[in-house]
Amino acid sequence: MAGVSAGNREWDGASYDRISAPQARWGQAVLERLELAGDETVLDAGCGSGRVTERLLARLPRGRVVAVDASASMLDQARARLGQADGRVSYVQADLLHLRPRDLAGAVPLDAVLSTATFHWVTDHDRLFANLFALLRPGGQLVAQCGAKGNIDGVISAVRSLGVERAGTWLYATPEETKKRLERAGFTDIEVWSHPEPTPFPERQVLEEFLETVCLREHLASLAPSQRRPFAGAVAAAMPEPVIDYVRLNIVARRGLGSNHD
Ligand SMILES: C[S@@+](CC[C@H](N)C(=O)[O-])C[C@H]1O[C@@H](n2cnc3c(N)ncnc32)[C@H](O)[C@@H]1O
Repeated sequence: MAGVSAGNREWDGASYDRISAPQARWGQAVLERLELAGDETVLDAGCGSGRVTERLLARLPRGRVVAVDASASMLDQARARLGQADGRVSYVQADLLHLRPRDLAGAVPLDAVLSTATFHWVTDHDRLFANLFALLRPGGQLVAQCGAKGNIDGVISAVRSLGVERAGTWLYATPEETKKRLERAGFTDIEVWSHPEPTPFPERQVLEEFLETVCLREHLASLAPSQRRPFAGAVAAAMPEPVIDYVRLNIVARRGLGSNHD
């Protein structure tokens, strides 16, 4: 459990698995950017409940996936979904900010790192990218997507309109900042861009569960359980429409062929 502390690391894995259709949809598009022959070893960095991991495994019939997440509840859900996949998947509970090659014994150097909807929860991207770089073989790919600058601004405004200053702790970086950070970590062939992904929730109850499980998770953890859903309901009511204004940051990069493994 490299560097994992209790507290606000925890998610409700079962609820996330139920309501994460938007992340699964975006993750499929991100996964298609990975160049795979089918026999590679790939890290899913922040695998969550394993919905995207399952699709990654399907692209690796002769390969392996290392599924890393800080949340025990998410990893339990991923195990329930994927099982052992004929020994092609292993699970590691770890904080990406503390992940070292020795935590992935036997799997490093990796051919690729995939990460979806996770990096914005990790607020030191210099350290994050340096850690991931150290796990990759020369020529290995990093393909990721997370929240970009402007992500869920409307939800944050709705929270503030209720007198709560801070709904969560995220790093919503710009493409320009991210490109510089990736260069500093040693990556090459870098492409970074953002795009809006407004996400409608026609059913009020689904919007409230989604806000409770994902966007407001950190703030709600500081409230009594009985106050959580009412607060999510108040935020939903304060939003101008039942649409979450997601903005996604897309990353494609490589560890250069000339860089030796540490
Ligand atoms: C929104 S979920 C995304 C899950 C999955 N990749 C998907 O696309 O559905 C974010 C995940 O990142 C994990 N996470 C957040 N910060 C982390 C960290 N520092 N180290 C490891 N996992 C982290 C959370 O536990 C959670 O499972």
